[in-house]
Amino acid sequence: MNIPKIPKSALALATLAVVGIYLFATAPSELDAGAGGRRDVPVETLFRMLDAENASVRALYTSEVVGPGLKQGLKFHESWRSKDVHAGPLPALLLRETANRLQQRVPDLSLFLGSTFPIEDSNHFKGAQLKFFASLEKNREPQFFLDDSTGRYTAMFPDIAAAPPCVKCHNEHPKSPRKDWKLNDVMGATTWSYARKDVSVDELVTILAAYRASAIESYEAYLKKTASFAPEGRPEVGERWPVDGMFVPDLATFSARVEERNSAKTLNALLKAKLAETTPTATEKAAPPAAQRAKSAP
Ligand code: HEC
Repeated sequence: MNIPKIPKSALALATLAVVGIYLFATAPSELDAGAGGRRDVPVETLFRMLDAENASVRALYTSEVVGPGLKQGLKFHESWRSKDVHAGPLPALLLRETANRLQQRVPDLSLFLGSTFPIEDSNHFKGAQLKFFASLEKNREPQFFLDDSTGRYTAMFPDIAAAPPCVKCHNEHPKSPRKDWKLNDVMGATTWSYARKDVSVDELVTILAAYRASAIESYEAYLKKTASFAPEGRPEVGERWPVDGMFVPDLATFSARVEERNSAKTLNALLKAKLAETTPTATEKAAPPAAQRAKSAP
């Protein structure tokens, strides 16, 4: 995997790499198995970590840039890329921008935000994803499965109407097939797929770094676009956020917030996955092995 440009966050990921090696490699000799190390991290762990990263960037952009920005008069639009549209990407389009860049870096991985009531037709789930989305909607739990029709390992995570702008904008959008969204509804699912069922620790960290770089670059594309806005609707780019006025955070300020929020979350997901693997389950704890029971019997 070729990563042409990794921002400062690579440092945080390097720390993760070291932790990852300790967590997943049980003996030093195992590290010698092949160039990228042994593929002993289940793809589910990769998906959970990617999703922790992505959900955090999505929430940051929606609630601290788009939400307060709209109140200040900043515009966000699906045709934000058009020359004569003085607007930034909607949250769903920042995600698509990230997905496209990520696929260039990691061709085996794909990211898609779908729904059963999409504003944009091409975001409608099909086939197995449609079936698993029905379960996800019912229990609000992530779904992991092998999609037989594509031969790809797939994960779907609920995309929740977590903030008022989600509901307001979708209900008011002329192309929305549904106008009664409420706060906390499952509006769709962030859907990841990957070609293999395991990755090595090295691949895990490389893919996470590729996600981080792609997300930051997508935000940078928005900043570049603001330079072409008409003066009355052009935000000042610097250290301040839209909650304080016609401002948007510059790349360093935005990246620092992403690093601050995400590194801990991602590390926690890694630790949780490892703990789940090594901690005995509740039933194992409740019923000690037969030999032990026999010994402690009076
Ligand atoms: C200012 C308007 C706006 C806001 C705010 C907004 N969306 Fe959207 N959303 C859209 C538009 C427009 C699309 C379709 C974009 C495309 O793919 O062209 C979309 C796409 C989506 C999709 C993919 C399915 C579809 O409808 O095409 C989901 C799921 C979604 N949004 C959920 C959310 C959630 C959850 C939030 C809040 C965290 C949110 N949206 C905030 C306008 C908005």
